[in-house]
Amino acid sequence: MRISVIGLGYLGAVHAAALAASGHEVVGVDVDPEKVDALALGKAPFYEPGFDDLLAEARRSGRLQVGTDVAEVAGSAVHFVCVGTPQSADSPAADLRFVDTAVDSLLPYLAPGDVVVGKSTVPVGTAARLADVVTAAAPGAVLAWNPEFLREGHAVDDTLHPDRIVYGLPAGETGERAAVVLDAVYAAPLAEGVPRIVADYPTAELVKVAANSFLATKISFINAMAELCEVAGGDVTQLADAIGHDVRIGRRFLNAGLGFGGGCLPKDIRAFTARADELGAGEAVAFLGEVDRINNRRRERMVELTAEVLGGSVAGRRVAVLGAAFKPESDDVRDSPALDVAARLDQAGADVVVTDPQAVPTARVRAPQLTYTEDVEEALAGADVVLVLTEWRQFRELDPVRVGELVAGRTVLDGRLALDRAGWEAAGWRYRALGRA
Ligand code: UDX
Repeated sequence: MRISVIGLGYLGAVHAAALAASGHEVVGVDVDPEKVDALALGKAPFYEPGFDDLLAEARRSGRLQVGTDVAEVAGSAVHFVCVGTPQSADSPAADLRFVDTAVDSLLPYLAPGDVVVGKSTVPVGTAARLADVVTAAAPGAVLAWNPEFLREGHAVDDTLHPDRIVYGLPAGETGERAAVVLDAVYAAPLAEGVPRIVADYPTAELVKVAANSFLATKISFINAMAELCEVAGGDVTQLADAIGHDVRIGRRFLNAGLGFGGGCLPKDIRAFTARADELGAGEAVAFLGEVDRINNRRRERMVELTAEVLGGSVAGRRVAVLGAAFKPESDDVRDSPALDVAARLDQAGADVVVTDPQAVPTARVRAPQLTYTEDVEEALAGADVVLVLTEWRQFRELDPVRVGELVAGRTVLDGRLALDRAGWEAAGWRYRALGRA
């Protein structure tokens, strides 16, 4: 099948390469020539484990073409819209400019029977609005909404072997035809037995934001328990282990620490709240405001804790920040808790040096005021305090004895509850963590 993919970010690029690898003829289009040039050379424009290999395979097969000219989509039977829906600059709502532009740009090339498939995370109601746009301009074409649940750092595996596939479709024969086309697109994962759920547009749109809201709530729940542990003298990791044994609760996504960041969870819960308000159902998701506040308090608390261990003020003190990415195995620094804490400490007058195995280049662009090094020993040299803010394996496996020889003061703050406390203490370190007495 010939398929087009509009938007070649984390979602679109991996989706396009995965479709090509599974045998489809794919044309990927993005407005950013740098991204397109990199992909054309078989180079991933971002760090994503396994993506280089998938991309190389797709390019070698000759089935993945990329370009900046949307006219290339002509002749494709299916058109995936994979552009971003960031938070608006002046409100918590999603900015739909890129989705609207992408759909508009496709209209001149649509033929009867074509399926336009939205994958971007959008406020409920968007698909119905865009379906009218598509059918008015291209009678016989149909819009489907097919949310994507991939995690950065696991994007390749999540794309090739998703937990579930959701189709949001119009009722009746038009929807049934679109389902047949989507089944052909996803023949490979469906053959593996991946569950397929066919729903109407609003349900499909809500599935995505409901899933991310649930995950964000789970993280903020455990971080709220961490706040209690700090004042009551408990240990949140043991608490998470203990409640996680209850299969109704489950241990996954109960890792306390600096909380969630990235390009999805924070902006999705805010956009969901904004949309629910518009629909007159704001009360139903008012708790998401609390989820967001708990999450932000973790960052504030980390800054406070740093001042506390330095005797009341961070001004002029050397702080080694290990981690800039919002999570390990990613170079994404969008709304990164680690980078946010580093910036707040810098603002408070600390002498901050940030290191990360992959995210130094992206962090430099987002927070150019900070000092960076790719060399972890250089970051640690002379530090009065060490903050571990992204749980990269490279940081979890640091030798506390060796690190102790590099720093000026042996105090470590474990922002992700990822270090072996006993090992660090045995090497003469003062260990402090969020959620541990
Ligand atoms: C998320 C959803 O998981 C994914 O399904 C959706 O498609 C996009 O949004 P992603 O943003 O890539 O994916 O990362 P995720 O693994 O969900 O982590 C999000 C944030 O939560 C990270 O900052 C991570 O450090 C934090 N987190 C995660 C915790 O603080 N504790 C946990 O237990 C898990």
